[in-house]
Amino acid sequence: MHPTFLPLLRCPRTGSELRLQVDELFEDRSVRSGRLTSALGGHQYPIVGGIPRFVDQEHYAGSFGYEWHKWSRVQFERENAGRPMAGHTRRMFETITGLAPADLKGQLAVEFGCGPGRFLDLARGAGATAVGLDMSVAVESARENFRGDPKVLIVQGDVLHPPLARAAFDVGYSIGVLHHTPAPAAGLRALAGVIRPGGRIACSVYQQGSFYDYPSVALYRGLVNAARARFGARVAMTLALWYTSFAAYGLYYPLALARKIRGARRLAGYLEKYALVSLNLPDARWRILDVLDAITPTFASTHTAEEVRGWFAAAGCREIRQVAWGATSFAGVVGGTQESAAL
Ligand SMILES: C[S@@+](CC[C@H](N)C(=O)[O-])C[C@H]1O[C@@H](n2cnc3c(N)ncnc32)[C@H](O)[C@@H]1O
Repeated sequence: MHPTFLPLLRCPRTGSELRLQVDELFEDRSVRSGRLTSALGGHQYPIVGGIPRFVDQEHYAGSFGYEWHKWSRVQFERENAGRPMAGHTRRMFETITGLAPADLKGQLAVEFGCGPGRFLDLARGAGATAVGLDMSVAVESARENFRGDPKVLIVQGDVLHPPLARAAFDVGYSIGVLHHTPAPAAGLRALAGVIRPGGRIACSVYQQGSFYDYPSVALYRGLVNAARARFGARVAMTLALWYTSFAAYGLYYPLALARKIRGARRLAGYLEKYALVSLNLPDARWRILDVLDAITPTFASTHTAEEVRGWFAAAGCREIRQVAWGATSFAGVVGGTQESAAL
């Protein structure tokens, strides 16, 4: 953690400023270990491995920690040059946020649920200073991915109780995250709370009736969650990984073939909907990550466009607009209650 980020951090319990005590520095003079103490209440938060830690466990986000630790750069745009998913991460980021590189230059950006940081990488590449907040040990991978960059801060904390100063950032986004929390609307409100009036926010969540609502996905997610409760997280993740590898390598080819044969197409669709979780993505590494995302999280709610639009309105946004990345991706401007009905 570079000390220049200190003014952006707050105690998540009291909202008060934090005092920094440094124990050890990295060679680049950023803080490797130390402690943050809140002005009110004297709450203490450690800095370990350069990351300020505002939660002492991963809670319900543990499945992601494992996933991102194992595949920490697969979805980074620069790792996909010349591969089947080239351009996807950039298209996704620019479509959902509505932010072109020129909009980000010199801006202070925050990502709620950054994972290993594929979108932080784009914001940073465009010239933004960026803060990534995540609750799982994905923060370790993110920290590695931005090691030595004084303009990126990775924070371990809860998006529902962000340890960040209010109205401090120019832009904020949360992509594929809030549906994995128990209170997505509160997450959106928290995101809007740390953005200055006139700043822009964006969010994308799972859509009701989409793949994530398939009976097959519910079945496998139920089995993984039952295994987690009965045998622990490690056993549950091992089982999920076996299935995922089977889906990504064994199932993909016969299903892809069946989709091309007229008589078999309906059967393939039926199997995917009711019996087998499988994704039709051209890169096996992405198939693994997306099947894991579907079947391992504790929370995976799905939503309607009206709901998400309502979250933005309730968070005091204006110029709320649905963007072209599924029906439940929205962007808006923080402050004021005047809305443009863009649905
Ligand atoms: C599907 S991943 C998306 C990561 C990133 N936005 C991307 O698309 O590459 C969801 C992330 O949200 C994080 N997460 C889930 N609940 C969270 C919470 N309450 N606070 C912070 N992070 C959370 C998980 O740890 C995980 O890294």
